[in-house]
Amino acid sequence: MSNERVAEASRLAGQVLDEVERAVVGKREALTLVLAAILAKGHVLLEDFPGLGKTLAARSFAQALGLDFRRAQFTPDLLPADLTGSYLYDQRRGEFEFRRGPIFTGLLLADEINRTPPKTQSALLEAMQEHQVTVEGETFPLLEPFHVLATANPIEYEGTYPLPEAQLDRFLLRVSFGYPSSAEEYDVLVRRLDRRREEIVLDRVTDAAGLLEIQAATETVQVDPSVGRYCVELATATREHADVLTGSSPRGSLGLVLTARAFAVLRGRDYVVPEDVKAVARAVLAHRITVRPELWMTEASGRRVVDEVLRTVPTPTTLEGAARG
Ligand SMILES: Nc1ncnc2c1ncn2[C@@H]1O[C@H](COP(=O)(O)OP(=O)(O)OP(=O)(O)O)[C@@H](O)[C@H]1O
Ligand SMILES: [Mg+2]
Repeated sequence: MSNERVAEASRLAGQVLDEVERAVVGKREALTLVLAAILAKGHVLLEDFPGLGKTLAARSFAQALGLDFRRAQFTPDLLPADLTGSYLYDQRRGEFEFRRGPIFTGLLLADEINRTPPKTQSALLEAMQEHQVTVEGETFPLLEPFHVLATANPIEYEGTYPLPEAQLDRFLLRVSFGYPSSAEEYDVLVRRLDRRREEIVLDRVTDAAGLLEIQAATETVQVDPSVGRYCVELATATREHADVLTGSSPRGSLGLVLTARAFAVLRGRDYVVPEDVKAVARAVLAHRITVRPELWMTEASGRRVVDEVLRTVPTPTTLEGAARG
């Protein structure tokens, strides 16, 4: 690889994944996507059933990346101030003091975000977008880096508040872990029994400053014009699909190119190929697509639309830019 910075970022990111996989069994694809989102400075929505290792994965990433970790449970009574923090009166000093909430951390696990009402959801999403919170007219910057892994149950049961599309769009990726194979599930049991305790302590591979450098290195990965145009064509095609009410916004095509670039780093390359785009397209685009309401009881879904546009939009066969040996 010609780009030394990317080579180093790639090496460290590979170590982070290996470390996380010491704790999380058999989720390489999903874990790779989560890490790609982090390299691309994004936030991830983990949509899954309970007990599939989401908390374990979040905690493991925080440990391996050397980030401060907090978890916030999004209960129906969680208030924006419970997340952002608020002014408390300090008796001794006789003045109000800002007490920082759990959002002031490196990696925030926002658990079950669809159980909390929209007001608190939007406080989180605003902070994600702007990397700052405003309380009583005063603005506080969040830590850098700051990443959110939010979990949501895929079944909308009574008393939940599904995120509106405009909010979903703020997540770079939506990822599902899914159930393990029975061999993997057995491996989870064996590892737990061998360990003789619940928790696993992972080695830290880097720290906050190190992650910022990995993210900066990711910014230097080359994107051929043909690949950039491919991202735009995929996003546009989701808008033109017959099943679709609203397709991906330009934020989707941007997310596609940024995630593909991070994915290239994880694959040990300092340039993006169309296969990187294909590998991340479902996770980047599916949650940004709303299918027509009359199709809600059918098989039509954002995921299926993405699969179809991947089949129909022609893949660029050669990179137009600098020749690659
Ligand atoms: N793929 C896996 N690899 C290793 N351990 C796993 C895996 N899946 C589940 N476990 C184990 O199962 C238990 C539940 O995992 P965890 O708490 O991370 O689930 P969760 O997805 O966060 O669940 P919930 O939605 O209820 O919060 C933990 O003890 C965890 O170690
Ligand atoms: Mg959990």
